[in-house]
Amino acid sequence: MFLTESRHRQVPLVAVVDGNGQNRSQVAHALISFYRVVQYFDVGGALCGLRDEVADLVLVDDQTPGGGGYNLVRAMRRDRVLASVPVILTSAQDERSVAPAVKACGANALLSKPYRRSKLIATVTAVLNRQVEEGWNRLPSRPRAALKETISVFNNISDAIDGGQGIDYRVVDDACQPLVEAIENDDYKDILEGVKDHDNYTFAHSLKVATLLSLFGNAIGLTHRDVLVLSGGGLLHDVGKMTIPHQILNKPGHLTAEEFEVMKGHVPASRAVLEANDSVPRGVMIIAAQHHEKLDGSGYPRGLKGRELNELARMSSIVDIFCALTDRRVYKPPMAAGKALEIMTAEMSAHLDQHLLKMFRGMMLEAVRDV
Ligand SMILES: [Fe+2]
Ligand SMILES: [Fe+2]
Repeated sequence: MFLTESRHRQVPLVAVVDGNGQNRSQVAHALISFYRVVQYFDVGGALCGLRDEVADLVLVDDQTPGGGGYNLVRAMRRDRVLASVPVILTSAQDERSVAPAVKACGANALLSKPYRRSKLIATVTAVLNRQVEEGWNRLPSRPRAALKETISVFNNISDAIDGGQGIDYRVVDDACQPLVEAIENDDYKDILEGVKDHDNYTFAHSLKVATLLSLFGNAIGLTHRDVLVLSGGGLLHDVGKMTIPHQILNKPGHLTAEEFEVMKGHVPASRAVLEANDSVPRGVMIIAAQHHEKLDGSGYPRGLKGRELNELARMSSIVDIFCALTDRRVYKPPMAAGKALEIMTAEMSAHLDQHLLKMFRGMMLEAVRDV
């Protein structure tokens, strides 16, 4: 079930509630690259519409006609269907003076106006992720630890990159232990389920790559230590994407040639981050540096060919492509596992190691059959 389309939720729906049409459409426009958006201009309309289609998050202005944003939140908290929907209140009032009222009415966060687009996106993401991460507390210990420890590493790396610091690889190694133990004990499906609604796409994709790459390594008989390297490589393979502008990373639809060049820059950026620390295992470096190389030399950044491609690179490019096809994005639904494997086998024979692909395909079809 974890790899089929039907169980995947859609891209989150965000309701923007604001009586000021210009504000409302500006906010909706900023969010549309990341989320589905619905707009309401008053409290009554929002309550009716939200009962019809429950949003994953509501962003409401305190001056909304029909009673104001605070009243909408109070009404939602009394409503059986809407009680647990997270709400962000926006207000032009002084932050400190309104904070107690925001908390008292049951809103989850306050966004003080004026705010930048990046602050809006960061707040929406944080509130959505808080919901998802709280859900991890209900999982069995190994998947729970794998999810919590890897997100913590990811957040720390993001801070380290912002601060121009290197990565302490021992922390990554420690965080990957519960992930590898979950693989070894066939306890990993909750990790894939738990991460698929996470709103940090690079994290969700990277943890999925780490999990399936480790599963692949375990299936072909690698040692615990080697599988641990694969999991670290999967988790860090796209770490350079943290330096790519949001509007390119999350652009709905195709990238222009220029944007694609910027996107390709995530590979040297990953290398730069990883090379800043000499304790990063060689296997992790190879996965980060070569996962977009293709056997026929048409990949990037170096256009490596045939035997120039390390086996780890061949494994990681198979897993990376499979994950990209089966990931949910704002511009596409997730592809079913069987269909993705079919496309990879039929259309990518010049790019991918066929022997490894056959093994991966067998392993994935087995995994799907088990659930
Ligand atoms: Fe990549
Ligand atoms: Fe990737």
